[in-house]
Amino acid sequence: MIYFDLATGHPSLERDPFKALVAPRPIGWISTLDAEGRPNLAPYSYFNAVGENPAVVMFSSAGMKHSLANVLATGEFVCNLATWTLREEMNITSAPAAAGVNEFELAGLTMAPCVAVKPPRVAESPAALECVLLKTVQLDDRHGKQVKNIIVFGEVVGVHLDERVIVDGRVDPGKLETITRLGGFNYSVARPDTIFAMKRPPGAGGTD
Ligand SMILES: Cc1cc2nc3c(=O)[nH]c(=O)nc-3n(C[C@H](O)[C@H](O)[C@H](O)COP(=O)(O)O)c2cc1C
Repeated sequence: MIYFDLATGHPSLERDPFKALVAPRPIGWISTLDAEGRPNLAPYSYFNAVGENPAVVMFSSAGMKHSLANVLATGEFVCNLATWTLREEMNITSAPAAAGVNEFELAGLTMAPCVAVKPPRVAESPAALECVLLKTVQLDDRHGKQVKNIIVFGEVVGVHLDERVIVDGRVDPGKLETITRLGGFNYSVARPDTIFAMKRPPGAGGTD
């Protein structure tokens, strides 16, 4: 084993292994509207679900990017599911486009209306979470120094789901083919042959 000190690194590693090790990370493909109503779409892999009842998601913005600015302006966002068939489009929407540029158009994607929030969802995606801003948190490091990351927490108020991914009243993860981020430029995809089920020990609780 080697020990990688976050301050000084280690000669056997060119890069900090952190991002490769906390992986795979889900991708929140965030759609928003700016204050003038112009759509924006971008992927965030510092993204996750952080609770249920209510369902809450978060994404972390490295600085004041358009998605964060738009959420602050409007209080709403949508998390679209990034899937195998949409991988190229997802990637295109990460381009550093100017404010007001519609990344749906840039990537050849279709905007579909949401129900409870104003930003459009990605029509081609099999799932989308409509979210209302709960709070943002500006991160500081352990010395109290402000760092660039700002975390957005949103409550999920509605879910769009393609009927084709529902089997026996449940979401079939093998049908979604969700893509997730690994280290470097690597991704993984959830396919039926890589998915396994495991029940918890008796009495451990938890829901499936
Ligand atoms: C798979 C993937 C994951 C990303 N995750 C993040 C992230 O978690 N936080 C972040 O600030 N940028 C992330 N980016 C970069 C943003 O997508 C990129 O800066 C984008 O231009 C931001 O768009 P916006 O300014 O319209 O919000 C990611 C890019 C890719 C391709």
